[in-house]
Amino acid sequence: MAYHIHLPVMVDDVVDNFGAIPKGFIVDATLGLGGHSFALLRSSPDISVLGIDTDHEALEIARERLSEFDQRYILKHGNYTDMQTIAKENGVKPVSGVLMDLGLSSLQLACKGRGFSFIGDGPLDMRFDQSTDVSASDIVNKYSEKEIADILFRFGEEKKSRRIANQIVRNRPVSSTSHLVTLIQKAVGNGAGRLHPATRTFQALRIAVNRELENVKDGLKAAVDLVGSGGKIIILSYHSLEDRIVKNFLRNESKGCICPSEIIVCRCDHVPKLVLKHKKVLKPSAKEVIENPRSRSVRLRIAEKV
Ligand SMILES: C[S@@+](CC[C@H](N)C(=O)[O-])C[C@H]1O[C@@H](n2cnc3c(N)ncnc32)[C@H](O)[C@@H]1O
Repeated sequence: MAYHIHLPVMVDDVVDNFGAIPKGFIVDATLGLGGHSFALLRSSPDISVLGIDTDHEALEIARERLSEFDQRYILKHGNYTDMQTIAKENGVKPVSGVLMDLGLSSLQLACKGRGFSFIGDGPLDMRFDQSTDVSASDIVNKYSEKEIADILFRFGEEKKSRRIANQIVRNRPVSSTSHLVTLIQKAVGNGAGRLHPATRTFQALRIAVNRELENVKDGLKAAVDLVGSGGKIIILSYHSLEDRIVKNFLRNESKGCICPSEIIVCRCDHVPKLVLKHKKVLKPSAKEVIENPRSRSVRLRIAEKV
């Protein structure tokens, strides 16, 4: 079965931390192939899950995978930024946990037809939700050289963004993922480092196509508002750009005053909504990294709603 190729990351930490929450639903906001949801539902008969994913294919696989837990899960297509509406429309309350396992699944990466991988050949698509408008091909073939360079720099931290953008624009139309890889290699060579020279460009395009960073910000806000007192929010992020957003958001929401440091008397009246559960970010064990290389870069953060 296709779903065996996606092992849920840091699943024991996720299950243990959701073990001690008030009775209520857990919203698996990035259901994927249902790996975390499966483990949560199996861990206790008292747990119910609302699973959300923007990818129809993933939802179907998760639906089949979770079928043994009848009545205890609701699966919905949608963007996790809309989790409050989705929960309300489906009578899901109270909510005692939200899980956000960010990024893409192994299935999406492995499926050549989705265009997420720089290995092999595929269409320049990269949409999590294939009913949305903008694909990687639109960015690569229609955006200006400057816009492409900015995307590669901002979302891929690609230092050679201008050179790559120039090579792309001079060789349009770019027809496929392998064509794009060839152009990147032409622009920057094969690279002597650990990373494939196309890694940063592919990451950047995927983030831009799916508005990932904007979604993370809005999703976190929605999660804080949705979870009831004593409930937990658990986030797994896989690269520094998204982890920075998560870290700053959780830090701000766990503080009292957030006035700029030059303001002597507080004017913001900010009230902390969260308590951070760990001083340091949690990382996978060496054993997990060997067994599931996808977990290598993960950072897990947990906060409890006040
Ligand atoms: C890392 S995978 C989740 C894997 C899952 N935890 C499991 O164990 O099978 C991330 C999933 O989040 C979905 N996703 C990404 N952005 C989303 C968004 N804004 N709203 C809903 N789902 C999203 C992707 O389609 C993908 O299936």
